[in-house]
Amino acid sequence: MATSTLRVPDHFEPFDIGLLGGPGEQVYRKARPEVDAMPWGTLDLSGFPEATIARARRVWTMAAFQEYRTGAACSLALQHLFRVQAPVDLIGVATRFPLDEIVHVELCGRLVAELGGAMELRHDPASLVPRLQPDMDPLLQCAEIIMRVFCVGEAVSIPILRASWQHAQIPLIRAILGRIVKDEAVHGQLGFWFLDWCGDAFDADERAYLEGAAHREISKLLQSWSRFERPAGQGDDTSAGGAPDPDDVPGAFGLSDASDDAGTLGWMPVDIYLPTAHKALDDAVLAPLLARGFDPRRHAPIPGH
Ligand SMILES: [Fe+2]
Ligand SMILES: [Fe+2]
Repeated sequence: MATSTLRVPDHFEPFDIGLLGGPGEQVYRKARPEVDAMPWGTLDLSGFPEATIARARRVWTMAAFQEYRTGAACSLALQHLFRVQAPVDLIGVATRFPLDEIVHVELCGRLVAELGGAMELRHDPASLVPRLQPDMDPLLQCAEIIMRVFCVGEAVSIPILRASWQHAQIPLIRAILGRIVKDEAVHGQLGFWFLDWCGDAFDADERAYLEGAAHREISKLLQSWSRFERPAGQGDDTSAGGAPDPDDVPGAFGLSDASDDAGTLGWMPVDIYLPTAHKALDDAVLAPLLARGFDPRRHAPIPGH
């Protein structure tokens, strides 16, 4: 493959993590025994063309990295929830999320190993978590990260992941997606519980600021989906060895590929993916935001929504 896809700055680092092993791993395994219970070693790739397997290595390497970024973003959000003295039950629910995400990293990573190994992926460690404006009111700062990571990113990904799971045929991939869907169900609700707690505390300017933050995340989603709407071969494939948008918020990767229509290894055909994704935006993001008096469309129109 041409190396033109590797136009990344020198300070980018390869995404490459492993296990320490020993007593630390035993504690981790005890906390999440479902990882070892997956049907590892059952993947039969004999019926798949090389190109599809290569694509699967790329898609699942990206999935592992997105889960990793989401874990980091959940950790940052958690820190901000502590900072603003959020209710104990809200913080308590959120404490589980980084562990969930690191389990998802391992699930995706072990699947990649069974597919033949990870694709090289380099990223900017300084952009691992969303950037926030310094010197902002702590509650507004907390609300911004919750809005971006949970009310948009995590919320929209849940119906997409659920559809990916329903579409998956291969037992190992179905088991992995099923586990992720089960864990993520609560992740998509936390943002709205947060707004139920403190949404009324924001004045008109602050609400407009948060609607703008949501709108920017939604725009990134629409942009990423639009590359699937172009005819095959015209997509801007930046993920093979490249890096995602450094200001992107994780959680909404979905699993799809524009140039494949059948026999997938965990992603949906585009004609199922796109309507699922747009419906997820309506039902899982915009509707619950509107119900709480936040309308990102006040910031700017959202085409098709
Ligand atoms: Fe996850
Ligand atoms: Fe999540």
